[in-house]
Amino acid sequence: MNIIIRTFAGFEEILAEEVFQISGLKPEIGKRAVYLKGGIEVVYKLNLWSRLALDVLVELHKYKAANESELYKGAYEYNWEKEFSIHETFAISSVVHSPFFNHSKYVSLKIKDAIVDQFNKNIGKRPSVDRESPDHRFLVRITHDQVNLLWNTSGDPLFKRGYRTITGVAPLNEVLAAGILKFSGWDMKRPILDPMCGSGTFLCEALMMAKNMPPTIKRIAFGFMNHKNYDHKLWTKLRNEAINNINDNIPVVEGFDIMSKMVFATKNNLKNIFEEHTCKIETKDFFKLKPTRENQMLVLNPPYNIRIAQEKNHEFYNDIGSHLKHEWSGADAWILSGDLEGLKHIGLRPSRKIRMYNGPIETKLIYIPLYRGSKKSKNSEKV
Ligand SMILES: C[S@@+](CC[C@H](N)C(=O)[O-])C[C@H]1O[C@@H](n2cnc3c(N)ncnc32)[C@H](O)[C@@H]1O
Repeated sequence: MNIIIRTFAGFEEILAEEVFQISGLKPEIGKRAVYLKGGIEVVYKLNLWSRLALDVLVELHKYKAANESELYKGAYEYNWEKEFSIHETFAISSVVHSPFFNHSKYVSLKIKDAIVDQFNKNIGKRPSVDRESPDHRFLVRITHDQVNLLWNTSGDPLFKRGYRTITGVAPLNEVLAAGILKFSGWDMKRPILDPMCGSGTFLCEALMMAKNMPPTIKRIAFGFMNHKNYDHKLWTKLRNEAINNINDNIPVVEGFDIMSKMVFATKNNLKNIFEEHTCKIETKDFFKLKPTRENQMLVLNPPYNIRIAQEKNHEFYNDIGSHLKHEWSGADAWILSGDLEGLKHIGLRPSRKIRMYNGPIETKLIYIPLYRGSKKSKNSEKV
């Protein structure tokens, strides 16, 4: 099978490494995706283990089309009864980069018509469309005149891990949090501290990573489970193997937030994954917080509240920079924010900058090593 694993822009290389670790197969790197050939076991493993994938797609059919009737004909020729029955619901989405087709919604509609017409002709009845919560999701991808009909084996996107039952107003995407931890080169031992932890996404992802726990271990539904050839035995075997391989590694992971309700959210979400954990999670103002141990790595996702006046937000970022400089030397800070101007007001020179997206919001991840002693002055330069 041709397998396509989608991710965020900029995550392709770290996803390719992860896919190789999971499957033992070297994927080809594409744009916001990597490509792989493999069987259903690989598909199940990727859904279970990938921290960096948004979804796992399998190619069902490919053909060429340069107009509406060719588009319809190609989809009509594929045998959809192999995939699902009239008693199940389905949804189609499209990604179109083609001079021949302008509207992705129209493409989805044409493919839907072809599927429905085929069922009607063969069985005299048709399956229903459910856009919200379908049993089966299919994706149409058109590049120039090349049409690919893909099955979304994940169903809901894989960042829906199943553990985050309480969130704040600006939760961090789980795939993004996992990616930032990968980019940081975290060795799964160094103490991590999130001083503005919100709903605790960094902390949950870090602990699962360190314990070799599959990111979707708490999730109960995947698209592939609705397929008529679903191999429940194989899935259970893979899941049980994973559970048996969870280790006892417990790095020091701490979280703080100025709002007690967010501290409650983090505790709740951690508890959803680990019945018991020893993480220190407390209500505290970052500006009153000092390092709690040696050699800490800070992961920080400050608010980029668009409702707060810009200048006030910039002042806030300026204060973050001063506090880091004066109180946190010897630590390293990885800071992600959607307030790109705000980041400049931190006033410390980042040694790395990586652009990424939190949903539709353009964000930047910056890395600031907070040297002790003489190098400290280097950090006082403006970004
Ligand atoms: C963008 S949210 C963080 C989201 C978080 N990464 C998550 O996954 O849910 C920013 C958080 O910073 C907290 N915060 C704002 N000012 C703070 C301060 N002075 N000290 C500590 N936390 C603060 C807010 O309460 C909010 O929960």
